[in-house]
Amino acid sequence: MARFLITSALPYINGVKHLGNLAGSMLPADVHARFRRMQGHEVLFICATDEHGTPAELAAAEMGVDARAYCDQYHEIQKAAGEGFRLSFDHFGRTSNPPNHRLTQHLAEALERNGLIEERTTRQVYSNADKRFLPDRYVEGTCPVCGYEKARGDQCDNCGSLLDPVQLKNPRSKISGSSDVELRDTAHLFLRQSKMQDVIRAWVDKAQGWPSLARSIAYKWLDEGLIDRSITRDLSWGVHVTKDGAPRPGFEEKVFYVWFDAPIGYIGASVEWAEATGQDWERWWRTDKGADDVTYVQFMGKDNVAFHTVSFPVTIIGSGEPWKLVDRLKAFNWVTWYGDKFSTSEKRGVFMDQALELLPGDYWRWYLMANAPESSDAAFTWEQFKDTINADLANVLGNFVNRIMKFAETKMGAVVPTEGEPGPLEKELYDDLEERLARISDFHDQMEFRKAAAETRALWVRGNEYLQVAAPWTALKTDPARAAVAVRTGLNLCALFAATAAPFIPDGAEAIRSGLGLSGEPAWPMGAKLFELVPPGQAIAAPPVLFRKIEDADVVAWSERFGGG
Ligand code: 2FM
Ligand code: ZN
Repeated sequence: MARFLITSALPYINGVKHLGNLAGSMLPADVHARFRRMQGHEVLFICATDEHGTPAELAAAEMGVDARAYCDQYHEIQKAAGEGFRLSFDHFGRTSNPPNHRLTQHLAEALERNGLIEERTTRQVYSNADKRFLPDRYVEGTCPVCGYEKARGDQCDNCGSLLDPVQLKNPRSKISGSSDVELRDTAHLFLRQSKMQDVIRAWVDKAQGWPSLARSIAYKWLDEGLIDRSITRDLSWGVHVTKDGAPRPGFEEKVFYVWFDAPIGYIGASVEWAEATGQDWERWWRTDKGADDVTYVQFMGKDNVAFHTVSFPVTIIGSGEPWKLVDRLKAFNWVTWYGDKFSTSEKRGVFMDQALELLPGDYWRWYLMANAPESSDAAFTWEQFKDTINADLANVLGNFVNRIMKFAETKMGAVVPTEGEPGPLEKELYDDLEERLARISDFHDQMEFRKAAAETRALWVRGNEYLQVAAPWTALKTDPARAAVAVRTGLNLCALFAATAAPFIPDGAEAIRSGLGLSGEPAWPMGAKLFELVPPGQAIAAPPVLFRKIEDADVVAWSERFGGG
């Protein structure tokens, strides 16, 4: 038994997350966590809402509530959506909770002691009307590149240029709309990443468990040279800046930059988990407290890779303390909406809460993992969604389970038949399944989700082929013992399918298992008992239809409601 610490990128608090967010970190992390638990390993699976920063403050202001109230509300909404999708986090925490604040302040102070943080004076936009410095996104003005009048201080949404707020023409405050703004000097803390260049490069050189996408992003940043960056912002909602445990003079109106505290939130949420359960978080996170044995696996979208391979490691290595660092990192491309970007702000695409109104979580889980955006972006379309669900879940898996279990129920006394001995047909099946199962395990181990799903489906297809040839419905008339063997084998196949499908479609797997009279958590099938998953003589009951077919009419209705098609 090994130990796996698994984290999913922390979803921003603002708004309900869309299917692209789900597919790019939380869902694959869940599939992997479930697989590792089924193998019997000890797993700590952590996620949280990423609550600080301008987007949260702005979203709260738009709703007319304060940031804390906004975050309280959306944390609960996101938590409920995660539960609806059966995301099996051991803890879903909050970066705004005290453990993350304490850890962030602690790490910043440690970095400063090590000469990796320094105070620098910068020129920044000050709003006289609002009586405050304006963070980049709070400044609006005319883009110096294309003339767009509503460019943001950090970026022009019209031409895509990355901007510094001091470059904007006719700058004004996004808070009050006032153009009574001026440039003033103000202090900020800078993380001296440039000093950590060699240390980080050496660490990346040694990293074994990273896919090429992650390595190439890390090296791109290293090759360009790490630059010192400001880790404080002029906001009130966030982690306050301290020195020697007390408010830092001159920083009373400032907080840490959200990307400084967010990844520390992985540790903070683990502390929350420990406080809630009475467990020990340090054995997962401190190499001096046993975390050396832990394999730490991170899941994220490709836009997060640099923060996890460079910035966050600068923070925790630079602290000089024995923190656990990522061992394996899985990054995803984008799920697109018919080739376009999903957009939270423009409400384009399907959001997690809406998806669950249409169909249970398993349907989406299967589709998103079978079409995971691994080697490239993957477009969501209603047509492909329908085809995938109907072919894989309704037909191949659903029909198999329904057919054999109904037959056992009505023709075999609703128990697992005891008679007969397996013959050459079964022997051939077992050998084949053993090989296939090893392949599925390998793909899960490699976190190749698309391939794992394809092989899982291939296993279901193989089961159908067996049943076609074994044909217990025909054998029953002439050779009841043979029919009994075929049905027993078919029911064991149902159990095998449930086990191998469980990481992807936990509810469907549970329905099959409960029909077979199996209770408790499913284990990953291995070893000699592979084809003795349901005891002969055990009572069974066919479950109701596992997966309904998606009709053309559904596609029409959903396309009308959400667009696409
Ligand atoms: O991109 C995002 O959605 C960020 N909220 C991810 C943060 S990951 C971690 F570092 F907190
Ligand atoms: Zn522009």
